[in-house]
Amino acid sequence: MKLGVIGSPIEHSKSPEIHTNFADQFDLELVFEKYLVSKNECLEWVKSFFESGGLGLSVTLPLKEVVLEIADDISLRAKQAAAANMLFLKDGKIFADCTDGLGLVTDLKTKDVDIADKKILILGAGGAAKGIVPSLLNENPKQVIVANRTPEKAIQLVAQIQELGGSQMKSSILMPSSLTLDSLENTSFDLVINATSASTSADQNLEVDSSIFKGAAAALDLYYSQTDTKFMQMAKEQSVAKVYDGWGMLVEQAAESFSQWTGFKPDTSGLLESRGA
Ligand code: ATR
Repeated sequence: MKLGVIGSPIEHSKSPEIHTNFADQFDLELVFEKYLVSKNECLEWVKSFFESGGLGLSVTLPLKEVVLEIADDISLRAKQAAAANMLFLKDGKIFADCTDGLGLVTDLKTKDVDIADKKILILGAGGAAKGIVPSLLNENPKQVIVANRTPEKAIQLVAQIQELGGSQMKSSILMPSSLTLDSLENTSFDLVINATSASTSADQNLEVDSSIFKGAAAALDLYYSQTDTKFMQMAKEQSVAKVYDGWGMLVEQAAESFSQWTGFKPDTSGLLESRGA
């Protein structure tokens, strides 16, 4: 079975070891490679991967939006996210899906972090935020607030979600509201999620007031890291009891992709524990 992950950069990707762990659980023969693919060559590259016997691809930055152009069919959740993190050859057609949001929700459930009836703050309004907001809304939260350094992008994200299938979400009446990062002081949330790309930069300069963590039961950085990110450190300093990075979400989104590609639902507990999650 030929699978792989595409993106740029790609050296850091943990996808090969995650999918090899899954394949070993079912004694499946698997070739899973990392491929450095740029935006310009992406569509041609994907086409030839599937023409040469490939079954599925994980898709990472910066290709999550552009791959939608090559898909014959796009899942509702990928349409809502306006991005895909996996491609799958099914009945000769390329199917695009976004398993990021489900990955996050599964991870939060595993960690006993409540979503239903809770007030959730999402920092950031880029591709990562877009991928998770629809799935969180489907879990009947009390409110989802998207806050961004550039407020126009948060407003745009909310409008886009409303337009792209908002009416098909379970909590369609409850749409996210948007705020700027500096208007968050003295507002309390149950769960704070960092979907900005601040943790990927060397200085990790996240311009947000630490009061956003006051009273929060949990905080999660979508970025996965061997050491605590600045966001995680801030949450711990404010005594948030449950603070996580994005490892669990990464493993769970991969498990959902793997089960669509192979029909086998892998056990994620070993990988989650190996990171102390
Ligand atoms: P991704 O696909 O990882 O979400 P992106 O689409 O480039 O990447 O979006 C990055 C997000 O992180 C944006 O919401 C960005 O805020 P702006 O829209 O104001 O640029 C946010 N971001 C990046 N660095 C940040 C920082 N240091 N502080 C606050 N927000 C930051």
